[in-house]
Amino acid sequence: MTSRITGTGSALPEKRVTNIDLQELVETSDEWIRERTGIVERRISTGDTVADLSAKACERALQAAGKTAQEVELILVATCSPEMLLPCCACQVQDQIGAVNAVAFDLNAACSGFLFALNTAHAYIQAGLYNNALVVGGEVLSKLVDWKDRSTCILFGDGAGAAYVEASTQDIWCPNGRRVGMESMVQGSDGTRANVLSCVQRTVHNAFLEQSNKEEFQYIQMDGQEVYKFAIKQVPTCILEALDKAGLTTEDVDLFILHQANERIIESVARRLKTALSKFPMNIDKVGNMSSATIPVLLDELNRSGAIKQGDRIVLSGFGAGLTYGADVFVWG
Ligand code: COA
Repeated sequence: MTSRITGTGSALPEKRVTNIDLQELVETSDEWIRERTGIVERRISTGDTVADLSAKACERALQAAGKTAQEVELILVATCSPEMLLPCCACQVQDQIGAVNAVAFDLNAACSGFLFALNTAHAYIQAGLYNNALVVGGEVLSKLVDWKDRSTCILFGDGAGAAYVEASTQDIWCPNGRRVGMESMVQGSDGTRANVLSCVQRTVHNAFLEQSNKEEFQYIQMDGQEVYKFAIKQVPTCILEALDKAGLTTEDVDLFILHQANERIIESVARRLKTALSKFPMNIDKVGNMSSATIPVLLDELNRSGAIKQGDRIVLSGFGAGLTYGADVFVWG
């Protein structure tokens, strides 16, 4: 028994914010942002919540899979930027799409969130607890970003992506001899590196403290160079580990769909894996870094454009705050 993705969907806010627009807010330039990150523009919410965008992405994924909301058994929303602590975003999505029979909860592993949620859904399905799941990565990071901090505000964008994942009870063999479904996964966390990328929400604050600890709202804090160094080392390492677990090499892979944090990180990973950059599709120029939404939005874009074919072997890999990282290997179909 394995699991397979049978439908994808995504949703982006309408408002485009270009690098030129950002020149009005902070001391930066279109040239600097393009050269250092590959980003040209990003989408920014003018009111859409994480739940709104995630629900739209889910509806599109269901439509693509030919399923109804009533059939959904599990909804997992990966997010680090929900508008509400209670209820969880997944329950709001359940309500918006009318998935009355689903169990729904959130999961936060920052930019690795979609990958970790996909793995969680796979594990549930493999254990026989559920037959299907809507796996979502949704973020409205624009509210966590300090729009006066040029080292972070240029990087992030808002959006959501979803995948409908189903149990594959009988083996499906592709003409190229590959079996459809998940082949291997690797995930990891290094909690000692929490200060490299963080966003404090509420510190301890209650009626029994002698001194009130109530703090002002805080924005994303990041040591960009440390994240960069972590990513270019950890991403190729965990991809190779995941391939090795499946008895495969980089040559067996058709597409590497990586977390879109920085074009230079992706180029470096491709070099370290000694693999042509053409196997690493990118959309960072149009959407920036949408944290957990990045991988499923790109997956949906590629799926809808016909860039992914049945039998293609795909590697998904992400990294983010935590620090967290992971890689999955699967055959599409
Ligand atoms: N516009 C213009 N100049 C900027 C700038 C901006 N938006 N942001 C920083 N600078 C300046 C710095 O102040 C510094 O100036 P100085 O040399 O006078 O001190 C100079 O540019 C170089 O800064 P540095 O931080 O060394 O740049 P960098 O090449 O490391 O690029 C990042 C910065 C953030 C783009 C890069 O480190 C990165 O992408 N890191 C990974 C971040 C990430 O992926 N985070 C999310 C993880 S999920």
